Amino acid sequence: MPTYPNLAGQGYGYILKQLQDFRDGKRVSSIMSAMAMTIPASAGNQDLKDIAAYFHQMKPMWSAPGLAGTPTDAQRQLGKSLYILGDHTDRIPACAACHGLAGEGNGPMAVPSLAGQNTAYIVAQLQQFASGKRNNSTGHVMHTIARRLTAKQMSAIAAYVEHLDPETTLGVGPKDFKQYIRAMQTMHDKKPAGTKGSSPAPASSSQ
Ligand code: HEC
Repeated sequence: MPTYPNLAGQGYGYILKQLQDFRDGKRVSSIMSAMAMTIPASAGNQDLKDIAAYFHQMKPMWSAPGLAGTPTDAQRQLGKSLYILGDHTDRIPACAACHGLAGEGNGPMAVPSLAGQNTAYIVAQLQQFASGKRNNSTGHVMHTIARRLTAKQMSAIAAYVEHLDPETTLGVGPKDFKQYIRAMQTMHDKKPAGTKGSSPAPASSSQ
């Protein structure tokens, strides 16, 4: 089962932050750190921005097939309940509060999209946040949350989000959802820093 992430359509700000974190040694992965470190800081981030923009404009991963197979009803129910409502007894916040009801993420806040993401990758990230091996979440937000999750809860949430598809889950239909995504994109820093405040991207795109 793949433990690498699906990046198509992932938020620009989030990918850029991860690449910088790999390069600067704040997030460690034997494969990614080596790659990102070949790009010197003196390159002024432009190469990293180009890579982030490239993945961001790709057709989102949301319709990715369920690589982990179909979750059981019990798993789906636990995953859905934790994702949407959290668990007050265990002080687990609703993932949806930040990652979006349909796992669409929050571009301007650099909160990654989780919809359609590989189950094994999600579980691996949660374990690494919990153990501190991945240590780059601003304000330790994800470390705090992941430490409160049991292994069973982690895999239930991962199985649930892998099957999320914002286009249908949000119930607004593909056409409207694409408009919503475009509106989000005009808000966040799709363009390299320094061009902030320039006029928003046109509403139509070749995508
Ligand atoms: C307060 C906001 C917030 C909440 C609540 C939250 N997250 Fe996150 N999450 C983030 C942010 C921000 C990041 C990006 C961290 C970074 O920069 O590396 C993230 C990253 C992740 C990642 C890594 C994704 C990737 O592509 O590598 C996973 C997995 C994740 N969160 C799962 C969850 C789950 C499961 C829950 C609910 C139990 C949850 N999050 C609740 C803000 C939140």
